[in-house]
Amino acid sequence: MSAKKDSMLIIEKEINDLKKSPLYEYRTTNKYFPVIGEGSHNAKIMFVGEAPGRNEAKTGKPFCGAAGKVLDKLLDHVNIARDSIYITNIVKDRPPENRDPTPREIEVYGPFLDRQIEIMKPRVIVALGRYSMGYIMEKFGLGDQLEPIGKAHGKVYATKSSYGEIDIVTLYHPCMAVYNPNNLNNLKKDMEVLKKYE
Ligand code: URA
Repeated sequence: MSAKKDSMLIIEKEINDLKKSPLYEYRTTNKYFPVIGEGSHNAKIMFVGEAPGRNEAKTGKPFCGAAGKVLDKLLDHVNIARDSIYITNIVKDRPPENRDPTPREIEVYGPFLDRQIEIMKPRVIVALGRYSMGYIMEKFGLGDQLEPIGKAHGKVYATKSSYGEIDIVTLYHPCMAVYNPNNLNNLKKDMEVLKKYE
């Protein structure tokens, strides 16, 4: 087994046993799974969503419900194969009723995302939605450039990570086109910023 896979499995085990999480009891009562992430551990591009929804918690796979169908369309639009990237979330367990993640949940799960980034060393992180954008931009020292997602969508921020250059791309969350399919074309247009990483 590869060293990256080993390290990811350690993270998976820790999250499985994460009794201190405010979402642990909700997960176990509902027989849900935590969603660790999916895709290539060698991917150049890591997508970071917000938190699993119901379909994701039932299967343990990220973006496999309605928002995932939108994400698949966006990836198709720029010819990026889903298995060539890595997809994860900041919060690894489903918040009840798909409510927004709380600051405490982000504080509990954020360090696991930090470790996943250190393991994979992606060249590009695509932050989906305002929570992911806020966390990732703060983490990479871009907090002073934070804007509302309505302004930041489709932007690329070149910065430095512990392992070298990294680009942070901020996009609307795909659920925008679940609530209103008319948004799909705008999401597709923003997605085109990823073409330069082909
Ligand atoms: N929304 C997210 O942010 N992540 C998922 O995995 C699914 C829906």
